[in-house]
Amino acid sequence: MFLLSCRLLLKTTIKSQRRCYSQQPELASKRYNLTRGNYASIRGSDINFFQSILGQTRVFTEECDVDGHNLDWYKAVKGSGKLLLKPKTAEEVSAILTYCNDTKLAVTPQGGNTGVSGGAIPVFDEIILSTSQMNKIISFDEISGVLVCEAGCILDTLNEYLMEKNFIMPLDLGSKGSCNIGGNVSTNAGGLRVIRYGSLHGTVLGVEAVLANGTIMDCLSLMKKDNTGYDLKHLLIGSEGTLGVVTKVAIQCPVKPKSVQLALFGISNFSGVLETFKQAKQNLGEILSACEYMDQTAIESVVRNLNIRNPIGDFPFYMIIETSGSNEQHDEEKLNTFLEKIMADGVVQDGTVASDYTQIRSIWELRERIIEAQLLDGFVYLSDFSVPVNSFDRFVHDVQNQVGDSGTVTGFGHLGDSNIHLHVISKEYTPELLSKIEPFVYEWTSKKRGSVSAEHGLGFKKKDYLSYSKSESVIDLMRNVKSIFDPNHILNPYKVLPDKK
Ligand SMILES: Cc1cc2nc3c(=O)[nH]c(=O)nc-3n(C[C@H](O)[C@H](O)[C@H](O)COP(=O)(O)OP(=O)(O)OC[C@H]3O[C@@H](n4cnc5c(N)ncnc54)[C@H](O)[C@@H]3O)c2cc1C
Ligand SMILES: *[C@@H]1O[C@H](CO)[C@@H](O)[C@H](O)[C@H]1NC(C)=O
Ligand SMILES: *[C@@H]1O[C@H](CO)[C@@H](O)[C@H](O)[C@H]1NC(C)=O
Ligand SMILES: *[C@@H]1O[C@H](CO)[C@@H](O)[C@H](O)[C@H]1NC(C)=O
Repeated sequence: MFLLSCRLLLKTTIKSQRRCYSQQPELASKRYNLTRGNYASIRGSDINFFQSILGQTRVFTEECDVDGHNLDWYKAVKGSGKLLLKPKTAEEVSAILTYCNDTKLAVTPQGGNTGVSGGAIPVFDEIILSTSQMNKIISFDEISGVLVCEAGCILDTLNEYLMEKNFIMPLDLGSKGSCNIGGNVSTNAGGLRVIRYGSLHGTVLGVEAVLANGTIMDCLSLMKKDNTGYDLKHLLIGSEGTLGVVTKVAIQCPVKPKSVQLALFGISNFSGVLETFKQAKQNLGEILSACEYMDQTAIESVVRNLNIRNPIGDFPFYMIIETSGSNEQHDEEKLNTFLEKIMADGVVQDGTVASDYTQIRSIWELRERIIEAQLLDGFVYLSDFSVPVNSFDRFVHDVQNQVGDSGTVTGFGHLGDSNIHLHVISKEYTPELLSKIEPFVYEWTSKKRGSVSAEHGLGFKKKDYLSYSKSESVIDLMRNVKSIFDPNHILNPYKVLPDKK
């Protein structure tokens, strides 16, 4: 559960990382009650060493240069990092980590710093290793659709490059203007198109990563099929910087769809949402590329706070269904058959279809700007769960009963992936309300054998709740894996794995 404040977000733009902040948020170590590990502190001789590898211009020690990198995306908590490094190659990363491993200096890898679980910022004085200058596209094969690039490439930039070649990235996230592909891979980012293209565990074909002792792990396969031993790249995907620094990625890119259509529906009850989802899969089949739901509270805040138009009336539930295909006429026919069916059966009460770019964009805004809108109403306790789709609505109701009138509970998310974003909004943050929400929501999720983090990861914010999704013996195995990859625990300490009791 993350605490957000509107005041803080208003001062925020993702790109303003180099700014000095006069008013400082709370220390992450304090809010999350973390104790500094037994690591070395940075000395002048360390700085000299890093300058000997990176030169003067890619080693940063000035507060103004480092400060933005200490703040999480919501500017809600901060770390105390004093040193920022910007290597350009895997060899430089290797030299840095070899040195840090030998001297027991802790390191936090950082991409676009858009992660929302606190994984990308130092907690104490860990060295911030930014991949922002590792941003070269290495190759693209138009026959296989395989792109190889460095970890610091920004998602949007990659998409633009591919669009010219009639391909697209297999993922689309709300933070695409800033997040880096290495960060995406390290968080196993999901987003809107997982229903169509699958998760990064499917689309990432290869990974090059530098391990804690500087060893370069070359698992940069370009082939979809590779059954040679243990598939180590999968351990790096979603490891949030705790097992290695991802330096290169090979990713399978889909062809850019020739026709895209979007429908927005208003639906009077949650069984209608489930029926629409089922019918969409049956009637749209292979062209279905996104299937999102939002409750009325979510849409209402976007309309009220951001002045975005809702083209249909007020309904308890809304759905956005997107199709992407190669033949406009064929896709239209399919969509029309689907629409006729759900309208005739009375499953959907109102709807609108968009096929030109501007209309499509404005409908997507209703979904993509929900968080931004909610933050304008006060504090948002936000969370990200996997639970069975048919329990989404029950979940929202049960949490609403639990918090009573001290907060408004709202649900929206990726139906196709059983991924609900469940937010509690209140005028201001209070520890009392937080204690009503947690651990209630984790217990609820656990009873459904769900996941306490569907796509945002654990960072330091959720690491102590891992046991609600994984057994003690599984967590122990994870600790063993961590020790193999990083015996001195220098990579992203205090993140992902709970301390041993
Ligand atoms: C508005 C908004 C919308 C979002 N929408 C989605 C969404 O739809 N789906 C979704 O899944 N997430 C979403 N996110 C969360 C976030 O954008 C993703 O987790 C993203 O993949 C993080 O990428 P990044 O480059 O910003 O990584 P960072 O935030 O910089 O880092 C995230 C984690 O990865 C580690 N890391 C970063 N780079 C590397 C590397 N090269 N090697 C090793 N470890 C590394 C860091 O140490 C940290 O633990 C959203 C965030 C925002 C702010
Ligand atoms: C990385 O994640 C961001 C934010 O979640 C997303 O917008 C972007 O599309 C992702 N990038 C890639 C290459 O998948
Ligand atoms: C849901 O709404 C539809 C259409 O209004 C109605 O026919 C159906 O009975 C409702 N289902 C439930 C469970 O309320
Ligand atoms: C580096 O770490 C890896 C993973 O633990 C290990 O396999 C390798 O032997 C280590 N290399 C050296 C030189 O210590």
